[in-house]
Amino acid sequence: MARLAFVALLFSLLVGEFLEPRSYSSVALICIVVVPFLGRSLVSATTASRVLCGTRIRFFLFVGSGVILWWTLNLFVLLGGNHSFHHSTSQDCFFFIWEKKRNINDHRKMSSCNVAFAGQCFAGKVGICYGRNADDLPAPDKVVQLIQQQSVKYVRIYDTNIDVIKAFANTGVELMVGVPNADLLPFAQYQSNVDTWLKNSILPYYPATMITYITVGAEVTESPVNVSALVVPAMRNVHTGLKKVGLHKKITISSTHSLGILSRSFPPSAGAFNSSYAYFLKPMLEFLVENQAPFMVDLYPYYAYQNSPSNVSLNYALFSPQSQDVIDPNTGLVYTNMFDAQVDSIFFALMALNFKTLKIMVTETGWPNKGAVKETGATPDNAQTYNTNLVRHVVNDSGTPAKPGEEIDVYIFSLFNENRKPGIESERNWGLFFPDQSSIYSLDWTGRGNVDITTGGNITNANVGWCVASSNASEADLQNGLNWACGPGNVDCSAIQPSQPCYQPDTLASHASYAFNSYYQQNGANDVACDFGGTGMRTTKDPSYDTCVYMAAGSKMSTTNSSTSPVPDASSSPQMNRFFSLLLPMLPIVIAARIL
Ligand SMILES: *[C@@H]1O[C@H](CO)[C@@H](O)[C@H](O)[C@H]1NC(C)=O
Ligand SMILES: *[C@@H]1O[C@H](CO)[C@@H](O)[C@H](O)[C@H]1NC(C)=O
Ligand SMILES: *[C@@H]1O[C@H](CO)[C@@H](O)[C@H](O)[C@H]1NC(C)=O
Ligand SMILES: *[C@@H]1O[C@H](CO)[C@@H](O)[C@H](O)[C@H]1NC(C)=O
Ligand SMILES: *[C@@H]1O[C@H](CO)[C@@H](O)[C@H](O)[C@H]1NC(C)=O
Ligand SMILES: *[C@@H]1O[C@H](CO)[C@@H](O)[C@H](O)[C@H]1NC(C)=O
Ligand SMILES: *[C@@H]1O[C@H](CO)[C@@H](O)[C@H](O)[C@H]1NC(C)=O
Repeated sequence: MARLAFVALLFSLLVGEFLEPRSYSSVALICIVVVPFLGRSLVSATTASRVLCGTRIRFFLFVGSGVILWWTLNLFVLLGGNHSFHHSTSQDCFFFIWEKKRNINDHRKMSSCNVAFAGQCFAGKVGICYGRNADDLPAPDKVVQLIQQQSVKYVRIYDTNIDVIKAFANTGVELMVGVPNADLLPFAQYQSNVDTWLKNSILPYYPATMITYITVGAEVTESPVNVSALVVPAMRNVHTGLKKVGLHKKITISSTHSLGILSRSFPPSAGAFNSSYAYFLKPMLEFLVENQAPFMVDLYPYYAYQNSPSNVSLNYALFSPQSQDVIDPNTGLVYTNMFDAQVDSIFFALMALNFKTLKIMVTETGWPNKGAVKETGATPDNAQTYNTNLVRHVVNDSGTPAKPGEEIDVYIFSLFNENRKPGIESERNWGLFFPDQSSIYSLDWTGRGNVDITTGGNITNANVGWCVASSNASEADLQNGLNWACGPGNVDCSAIQPSQPCYQPDTLASHASYAFNSYYQQNGANDVACDFGGTGMRTTKDPSYDTCVYMAAGSKMSTTNSSTSPVPDASSSPQMNRFFSLLLPMLPIVIAARIL
């Protein structure tokens, strides 16, 4: 739709020029000259874009004269001023802002100078991995319905199962398919094997099924059989095969890697590839550059936390705003979460080999909802927190400290819990959904919802009880937590000031309890919000006493306006969106009528 709108607008602009041949050059010239001075409207456009998209915008500027452009823009303005129409996900919204200077040729209003700003929100894309290592999953067509209900537009599968590929036909979902490691040998050996595979598994279903990526091999460095040397030859053969049928520009070829491909990932600036892999990595990176393909990596802050809970805090792994920042001593870059640190370690490793222009794509990341007894981090709450914050991070396009503002695409692992995966308990429990399609926790795919992450979820232990200071926490830790809650945490701490109801008993523990609880209630009442470096604990007993009333679940006070950027009220836009969906395809017709 966005593209259509562009074409329509451009077209109307051109036709407008065509209708005003005499004034064309002078008006266009004036417009080009005045545009740099339209500071005010640029500022308002930027502000509006932030409100509308909550993210970064790329602006496109249309300058010109002409009745159709004038008419089109006026119609848009008439119907809603600065206009936006959103698509089902926040990743692809589009709007117009206009500014016109009339009467440049004052005898003819029609040749007024029109300036149109068309902006498109560009944000990282969030997809989902549809792993099928289970014997109890729904049929592919049911799964496709589920994916569409979630408005997910990007899906990764691990093979080229024909039933699955067929099920995605005509859904608008972009599919990443995979060549399993077991197929690398035949694919690397003979071009004809690849051609046959393309002929049988891809071409009959393309483009009805929008296959956009083929991953050749997955995490080969983790493979029990040494297939690393086969990856690049297989990638080249797939490329040759696609080229023969003219699809090499439409379908991107890459291969996924685990973070184990690095010999060092901390600090991020010291990120370096393990030199034992250079024999296949160098040619692969060259292949990726030649074909403008991304470097694909699977990132799991969960394992970093689980393997070393004493060195990696849960807050840091979960993108929690309360986490202690980690500063890279070489660059001075400040890391507030582990995901960014891992992405940057890859970036610095690529840079060290002089491949810094390669785009990094995260083809798997996520958090398990259940684990073995010792896997204490594997809970639905933590999984929801990680994925919610991840989506927000990606959609907001904040980039990483080394590449601020860089959009990064991620695929969340995984759609379902998969009961046939070997290994520890958590391995089988990475899903957002149970095999019966009921959700394990809710996830806001737009990344723009309220910060209260438990909204709409049925998390059993969320939104219950209170949060107080743990009785055995040290004074210093309590003081830190208290300072944090009343400062950056945005809690209203007036009740614990002298002569206020919660001042007595005047102890650190009592004051901290009050502040911790307020923070907890305002931030979704999940266990992350009651962490405070381990000094907070949840309780089911109301800690209120005398006239000192502790905030309780549901009594959320709106004292934390500041934590999120304003999100436009969606209630007003849907019918407008529908209107524009109808209007835009009509534009070319109107324009055609004008010419004739
Ligand atoms: C894997 O195979 C390649 C080439 O066949 C070899 O260079 C490499 O050392 C092998 N790696 C391991 C871990 O055996
Ligand atoms: C590099 O990879 C080799 C082969 O897999 C492995 O034996 C070695 O431990 C790795 N080195 C580091 C520093 O991770
Ligand atoms: C934590 O980090 C220290 C120093 O970097 C290291 O010696 C120790 O082994 C790490 N602990 C764990 C559990 O990884
Ligand atoms: C988006 O990122 C900017 C920094 O780039 C940050 O200030 C803002 O709070 C973020 N918004 C959300 C909703 O996370
Ligand atoms: C939460 O659970 C209740 C009943 O247990 C159900 O009616 C409701 O639909 C559930 N809400 C969500 C968002 O799943
Ligand atoms: C504090 O006490 C709780 C039990 O009341 C215990 O689980 C926890 O490990 C203790 N923490 C410290 C730091 O001693
Ligand atoms: C929250 O917003 C309301 C109105 O929008 C405003 O009156 C109030 O001062 C704000 N509170 C904070 C803490 O910013």
